[in-house]
Amino acid sequence: MLTGKNLIYPTDFTVEQLEDLFRLTDDIIARPEKYARSCVGKILATMFFEPSTRTRLSFEAAMERLGGKVLGFADPASSSAAKGESIADTIRMISCYADIAVIRHPAEGAAHVAALHSFIPVINAGDGGHQHPTQTLTDLYTIRTKKGRFHDLTIGLCGDLKYGRTVHSLIHAMCRYENIHFVLISPEELKVPDYVIREIEAAPGCSYTLNPDLDDAIRQVDILYMTRIQRERFASQEEYLRLKDSYILDAQKMQNAREDMIVLHPMPIVNEITGAVDEDPRACYFVQAQYGMYVRMALILSLLGGQEGYPTVCGAKMFEKTCVNPRPNGTVHCKNPKCVSNLDLTLPIRVKEGGRVCEYCDATIEP
Ligand code: CP
Repeated sequence: MLTGKNLIYPTDFTVEQLEDLFRLTDDIIARPEKYARSCVGKILATMFFEPSTRTRLSFEAAMERLGGKVLGFADPASSSAAKGESIADTIRMISCYADIAVIRHPAEGAAHVAALHSFIPVINAGDGGHQHPTQTLTDLYTIRTKKGRFHDLTIGLCGDLKYGRTVHSLIHAMCRYENIHFVLISPEELKVPDYVIREIEAAPGCSYTLNPDLDDAIRQVDILYMTRIQRERFASQEEYLRLKDSYILDAQKMQNAREDMIVLHPMPIVNEITGAVDEDPRACYFVQAQYGMYVRMALILSLLGGQEGYPTVCGAKMFEKTCVNPRPNGTVHCKNPKCVSNLDLTLPIRVKEGGRVCEYCDATIEP
């Protein structure tokens, strides 16, 4: 039962709940007319503090196709965030107007902050270079459809593994399955964050190798997950220019891949996949993006509690939640400059794993 839950990490849902979600997705694809009025009278709010094509528009299309309505903003300059309003106050207001909210924000942990202050379900549509769980739902559904299993897979992840939030979320999700081997293909400067490596090491069924050579790695993998180099996350433009062409998947490299290998990419593609690869039947990234809308229909339905008759959460519960644990004057704080707690200094410190890890962004806390 997912009613009323938030989706901040892909593992916020159990493996069984994910399978239920994917079965619902199957049914929505097979019988869309059955769901065309499932969300009549309900409103989805989209709060996009960063650009998006697929995530925002597929969420909006999903709600429209369920018979619901959509409000929101695609540019923070048109919201009161431009006047300095906090994430907490913004979501408190959105909670009064909508039944479910989707947030994308450049700060790591921003969606978690929104969920802490929301009266309605919050969906993380990407928080900086941290997590992107609904992309993971799309990726998993594509893997399920194209490979028929979530176990016994060698998955190559290639490109910007440091800032690539879709990579972090996909690894996070796949670590729960049996016999998964990750081949991490990146330059040294763009390798996955330590907290993601710790997750793989802690997962009994998983292992990884670092292999910066795509020509070599492509021979081993069942799935090649390409990513773009995330220009907007670099502190230095020179560093971006130096690394931006680290990997380019072309028809020649595809010749070395297995016949049943599939290529995924969260998109947008910049120049890391040539147009010739689009024609290869192993290239699945366009259908992957298409699945995204159906998976998000299933997600909205599940969080709102089924097809019809669920109670609205607006009104009665308003303003019961308040911010607890005011920010202490101590010396401990998150050292990650991209953490939401360093953007909004009114936020309380929140830690997990015995106080060693920032609850917002997963960075290690240093005294
Ligand atoms: N995959 C993805 O998040 O795409 P958008 O940035 O276009 O939403």
